Amino acid sequence: MRPVAAPTASRLWWGKFVQLGIIAIVLIECVFIIHLHVLNSPFQSVNTSYSNSLIPDHGGSIIGSSCSEEWLEKMDRVNYTRDFVKQPVLILFGTQEWSTCAVPCVFHTNDNGPADGTFGVRDGVPRIMRSMESSAYYPDHELDSARRKGFTVVMTTSLMSDVPVGYFSWIEYPVMDPPQPKTKTALAAAFISNCGAQNGRLRVFNLLQKEGITIDSYGACNQNIAGGRVNKLQALQKYKFSLAFENSNVEDYVTEKFFQALVAGSIPVVVGAPNIEEFAPAPNSYLYIKDENEVKSVAAKMMFLAGNATAYDEALRWKYDGPSLSFLALVDMAVVHSSCRLCIHLATRIHSKEEASVAPQRPCQCSHRSGTIHHLYVRERGRFKPESIFLEESNLTLKGLVEAVLQKFTAIQHEPIWKGDRPEMIRGDSNLRVYRIYPVGLTQREALYSWSFKSDEGFKEIVRQHPCSNFEVIFV
Ligand SMILES: *[C@@H]1O[C@H](CO)[C@@H](O)[C@H](O)[C@H]1NC(C)=O
Ligand SMILES: *[C@@H]1O[C@H](CO)[C@@H](O)[C@H](O)[C@H]1NC(C)=O
Ligand SMILES: *[C@@H]1O[C@H](CO)[C@@H](O)[C@H](O)[C@H]1NC(C)=O
Repeated sequence: MRPVAAPTASRLWWGKFVQLGIIAIVLIECVFIIHLHVLNSPFQSVNTSYSNSLIPDHGGSIIGSSCSEEWLEKMDRVNYTRDFVKQPVLILFGTQEWSTCAVPCVFHTNDNGPADGTFGVRDGVPRIMRSMESSAYYPDHELDSARRKGFTVVMTTSLMSDVPVGYFSWIEYPVMDPPQPKTKTALAAAFISNCGAQNGRLRVFNLLQKEGITIDSYGACNQNIAGGRVNKLQALQKYKFSLAFENSNVEDYVTEKFFQALVAGSIPVVVGAPNIEEFAPAPNSYLYIKDENEVKSVAAKMMFLAGNATAYDEALRWKYDGPSLSFLALVDMAVVHSSCRLCIHLATRIHSKEEASVAPQRPCQCSHRSGTIHHLYVRERGRFKPESIFLEESNLTLKGLVEAVLQKFTAIQHEPIWKGDRPEMIRGDSNLRVYRIYPVGLTQREALYSWSFKSDEGFKEIVRQHPCSNFEVIFV
């Protein structure tokens, strides 16, 4: 023990000595600066004598009388060589399906100039894969295998893909439409036309019937009612339940079958995505059949709900009270067309690279008499340009971040991107509400469900490691 303790003690003593030395040097420099100031002030503006003699402190920040939000705004500005107004994002072999996008962007069928992405193949141009099919039938569309095949940008229904393409949208699915009276005697309606689905959905169908659930089947499979020219939505409205049976059970693969049932106000009975609860407007708004073993219990639940008006109405309560915030946050993503989100994704990558190359030249924080100011950037999801957010050291907490974001976006009278798209009754008031703030570059699966700052310390660590951090905010 002893031989170890002695050198440790002497090392501690040395540490103290070095610390004292540093303090002494800092003091001497301060005296020197004050001296300079006194000498210069009669002749020179304070500004020139100080801003030219900025001294990085031990934390890498800048000490100087010029330290202010305005100063950081100016010093941290990146003069991007790529100006998207002059040179829009260029994507080859795609279709431009939006009218406006937060970043100038052009889709071109064939252009010989340098492009930023291509749906086809072009030497040296990042390849984009887009698919709304289930990866159960198109294994190549699964994220990892698409990457292995050389696709730089992957657009699939998976919320882990670079630019998710979901089936949901406020425009296509007016989910807040009020429910209609249930006039049909059969409990459920089904529209299933691919009878060979590998997830056994027809076996589940048959087992439900065996349990006494009456089903009007309009699709080609197990058809028992003329379905040719029926308006699907109008038909679904009349049934207490809709069989929303997907062709495969793949995470995030949730199609119109589910969303149409929600619009119709007919409780969806789901075979499909194991994470269906994340796509539901309320916890009790759907029934889920994981596998054949669950048919009996779900059938019993359907019988109970069908026979108890109070319980049934509770399952549709969200139609009147509004859906959960997590549902809003998910569906709001689709307010910006996936093609435009692709443009934003590519433009962000281009600017991030430029930011990385000038990182050493940006102070991103500075210290003045009352402490250190940190400079962050925050943009709303679906937009491109960020706003500057400044946080004093004492406010470098999650609460401080949320408050600063609300203050900033309220001050500039920011309107949430979903304001014009959500159904009238869930557009909220004029107050902004923060649902999530996360670093730019996370997938939507991370942003919405699996990632968090964890703690104030976690947030501080990100700001320390990524000066001038870029964040995205989701308002609800
Ligand atoms: C960016 O451009 C502005 C104005 O042209 C200039 O004052 C500033 O020094 C430039 N910043 C950098 C980091 O090059
Ligand atoms: C009907 O459902 C309501 C709400 O879930 C419950 O309180 C009530 O006991 C049920 N009635 C019957 C007869 O089961
Ligand atoms: C910290 O945040 C609060 C609330 O936004 C604000 O009133 C206060 O001025 C901030 N403090 C500093 C030192 O910036």
